[in-house]
Amino acid sequence: MGVKKIAILGASGQLGQSFQYLADAFPFELSCYDRSQLDITNKRSLEHLETDLVINCAAYTAVDLAEEEPREAYKINRDAVANIANVCVHKGIPLIHFSSDYVYHNNVRRPLRESDPTRPKGVYARSKLAGERKIVAICDQYLIFRVSWLYGPFGKNFPKTMLRLAETHDNLRIVNDQIGAPTNTIDLAKMILRLCVEQDGVWKHRRGIYNYCNTGHTSWAEMAQFIFSKTGQDVIVEPIPSVQYPTKAKRPRNSRLALSKFSKTFGIAIPDWQTSMMDCLRILKTNDDALALD
Ligand SMILES: NC(=O)c1ccc[n+]([C@@H]2O[C@H](COP(=O)([O-])OP(=O)(O)OC[C@H]3O[C@@H](n4cnc5c(N)ncnc54)[C@H](OP(=O)(O)O)[C@@H]3O)[C@@H](O)[C@H]2O)c1
Repeated sequence: MGVKKIAILGASGQLGQSFQYLADAFPFELSCYDRSQLDITNKRSLEHLETDLVINCAAYTAVDLAEEEPREAYKINRDAVANIANVCVHKGIPLIHFSSDYVYHNNVRRPLRESDPTRPKGVYARSKLAGERKIVAICDQYLIFRVSWLYGPFGKNFPKTMLRLAETHDNLRIVNDQIGAPTNTIDLAKMILRLCVEQDGVWKHRRGIYNYCNTGHTSWAEMAQFIFSKTGQDVIVEPIPSVQYPTKAKRPRNSRLALSKFSKTFGIAIPDWQTSMMDCLRILKTNDDALALD
């Protein structure tokens, strides 16, 4: 029996909204729940779900604030994820969940592989790893995607912040020693829905943890330069080292993710980050006449 009904949890976040955006292009009945409709910390409300598959986009994502609110971060990223996993097992349905490149925090000079050791630093990263571990321990049908540097047309993210700052700044100092791949949430959501159409059952015989991001890599400073050059903004980017931009939670220098396990297992092509960034800028432009694209 194939998947017909999909429940999207955390539907008002960047990724959750991207699933909603794609809903009409795929042959599923998507039921989307934001926090007010379904709080994932409330196990009872999860038990009422009637669905063939759960896609969990809900998470505590305030990386720096998590240092001051560890209980809240663990409640959502670990304990509520365990609730979802238990409900899925009880109902005999698969779970698709998202984790983060931050779980690695490994500054080797190559892309990180799923088999590399995890050394998360900071509450957010540790709580995300704890959530992964709950799913692996509880579920028999699951896919966990470790993703990096999410952005898209919806919610708050780096490209949208850059476009906003460009309205008031001629000059911006941006970190250039953290390297990774920006990942367009629409590509990510599309990939997941394609899996559901083309590779039904994959969460059982290929269950596990997979990296996913757009291909290529860049730094935050280089990404900002790319965005400004493609949108005709006259902003000078001054590249700075991370030590000049201290944050409460430490960010990894190396966020590059190896994609060979994903590619060998699923055989789905992944767009490069520049192409995907242009796709996002085009969508943003449709909502903002003032935004120019070359
Ligand atoms: N953003 C990134 O750069 C990044 C990088 C790596 C991995 N990830 C992972 O990718 C996934 C999607 O991230 P995102 O960027 O789409 O996050 P996001 O925009 O912050 O969205 C998270 C959503 O979760 C909801 N939520 C929080 N607590 C909840 C609860 N108790 N019950 C129900 N919903 C709840 C939030 O609701 P409210 O709007 O009401 O707060 C929000 O809509 C997450 O697992 C995240 O950890 C993100």
